[in-house]
Amino acid sequence: MHACEPIAGLRSHGKGANRTILDCLFRRNGGGKAVFLPPRGPRAPAASLRARFRVSGAVPLAADKKGLEIVTTASSADHPTRRDFLYVATGAVAAVGAAATVWPLVSQMNPDASTVAAGAPIEVDLTPIAEGQDIKVFWRGKPIYISHRTKKQIEEARAVSVSSLPDPQSDEARIKPGHDQWLVVVGICTHLGCIPIAHEGQYDGFFCPCHGSVYDTSGRIRQGPAPTNLAVPPYTFVSDTKIQIG
Ligand code: FES
Repeated sequence: MHACEPIAGLRSHGKGANRTILDCLFRRNGGGKAVFLPPRGPRAPAASLRARFRVSGAVPLAADKKGLEIVTTASSADHPTRRDFLYVATGAVAAVGAAATVWPLVSQMNPDASTVAAGAPIEVDLTPIAEGQDIKVFWRGKPIYISHRTKKQIEEARAVSVSSLPDPQSDEARIKPGHDQWLVVVGICTHLGCIPIAHEGQYDGFFCPCHGSVYDTSGRIRQGPAPTNLAVPPYTFVSDTKIQIG
C-alpha cells in the first residue's frame, strides 16, 4: 500500500475506485517499485496539473491502462457554479433579515410626535402676515410673536435714545440685518410671566395687563415693573418669506 492520503474533491470510478491521484500518476512495476507515469500529450509541469484541478466540471486528468479515469468536481473561481449562487442568495437573505431586525430598533430611538412638537424647530411662512399685523405661534410651548412692522413703527423704535431705556438695547440688535420690518419676540412678560397683548399700550408695542408693563415696537420695556425686554428667540431666515425658529 502506498502512503499517500486521498485528495479532497477527487473521485475515481471504475476498477480501483479507492485509488488516489498519486496512484494514477505512479504505478508499481513488477518489483513493487513505484514508476512515474507522465501525462500524455505535451509536457505538463506540476503547476499545470494543479491548475487543471481547479477547472470546474469533470475533467479527466490521467488514465491508466485499465481505463481508470480520475475526474475533479472542484468549483472554479472563473465560472460561477450552483454553490456560488447559493452562497450569494444566502448572504442576500441574511442581509435583508438583519436590516429588518435592526430597523425597528433604530426607528424606536427617534423622538415621538409630542417630543418633536415640543422642542423641534418650526418654520413659519411670513407671506400671509400683512404690514402692521402680528401673529402668534408656539415653539417649545412658548408663545412667539411675529410682527410685520410698518415704516412708522420702525422709525419710532429707532428714534428713542438707547441709553434712556430700562434695558438698553438698540432696535438693530433685536432684528435680523436686511429684515428690519420683522420683529420676532417671546410673548412672555419678563415680570411674572403673563402674556402681553400686541398692538396695545402707549408705544403701540405690547401691553401686559397683569401689572401694567408696556413694551415698544421693538419689544423693549418702556414702563411698568418688567425688568427686561421681551426675549428674542433663536431664529433664522431660510428665505425672504420664511423663518425657522429654534
Ligand atoms: Fe406682566 Fe407683571 S406679569 S407686568
